[in-house]
Amino acid sequence: MRRLPISMLKILSPVLLSSIAISAFAEPPSGNQDKSVVEQIVDAQTILAKGPYKGLRANHTKGIVVTGTFTPASSAASLTKASHLQNTPSKVTVRFSNAGGVPTIEDTNPNANPRGIAIRFELPDGTITDIVSFSVNAFPVSTPEAFLEFLNARIATKPDSPKPTPVEKVVAASPSLQRFIALPKPLPVSFATQPYFGVNAFQFTNASGETSYARYRIIPLNGQESLTAEEIAKATPNYLFDELPLRLKKGEAKFRLVAQVAEKDDVINDATIVWPEDRKQVELGIISLQAPVADNAAAEKSLAFNPLILVDGIAPSNDPVLLARPGAYAVSVGRRLAR
Ligand code: HEM
Repeated sequence: MRRLPISMLKILSPVLLSSIAISAFAEPPSGNQDKSVVEQIVDAQTILAKGPYKGLRANHTKGIVVTGTFTPASSAASLTKASHLQNTPSKVTVRFSNAGGVPTIEDTNPNANPRGIAIRFELPDGTITDIVSFSVNAFPVSTPEAFLEFLNARIATKPDSPKPTPVEKVVAASPSLQRFIALPKPLPVSFATQPYFGVNAFQFTNASGETSYARYRIIPLNGQESLTAEEIAKATPNYLFDELPLRLKKGEAKFRLVAQVAEKDDVINDATIVWPEDRKQVELGIISLQAPVADNAAAEKSLAFNPLILVDGIAPSNDPVLLARPGAYAVSVGRRLAR
């Protein structure tokens, strides 16, 4: 498969980046298909969700959009010269979501994990940049091809499939899938009490030209809070979506934006490999969420997050999962805006 050089990705506009990322994966896998891998992934996500659903995302479909502010921490400049991480606060628009393509998925459904957080920073000069993360500290597979294989195995697995089922075979052959499945995924009290992880590494460059690789973490300022078994039994299907506006009426919900910095031998290009907890963590700033948007459906439709909408001082790593994401998101955006 063709890979885009990082230097090329850095100088492209987000819009161009999306279309180029699609073409980077536009070559069909050897054999039968004539669609790109990312388009096949979006097709598979749509089939698994029994979609398509008019005007909605192919993945992380059930969401809620809120607005707030981001105030950078002084320590952020040691890592990066990125303008939103210097002295000036920016506006943020944040979309929380359940996993999967089913718009009515119950918040208590295990398939609603990992929860998503997508953050758009809007700088005073109009520049935008995004972070798109989720609630588990690893991705299940290392490549888009392996992700497609897993999704296709889930589609091929029927209630009467003989054992081992297609999905059981793929899981049995993939230690990273086994690790992902085994990770604890407690139900949060609130979208605002759930930590989120960037999973893919980015290259950060500071004003002195020093570079390091790091992964984002978005941590509730007051710590993680999960439901007890008793509370889970009483939780309603939309409890997270009902809770957030009520919480914001009482006051701001705050998160620390943190960068976990890789050491020399840490694996940069594989989102299945968790870096040790003792790695340095640099405080980048505080996200303060204030209120839900007035028209959630309209905001969801017009927002198209993309983890490679970046500013100078932050560049993608060569993680193939990260580089596949803009292409997949662009396919989903193109379809939901066309319908
Ligand atoms: C090959 C890997 C991946 C593929 C193919 C993929 C695919 C998609 C697609 C098609 C969407 C819908 C986009 C839209 O219509 O706006 C989406 C949304 C999302 N994805 Fe991914 N994704 C991948 C990896 C990841 C990873 C690693 C994370 C977290 C670290 C993640 C978190 C999210 C979130 C939070 C959303 C919702 C964004 C929003 O609120 O608009 N995805 N993904």
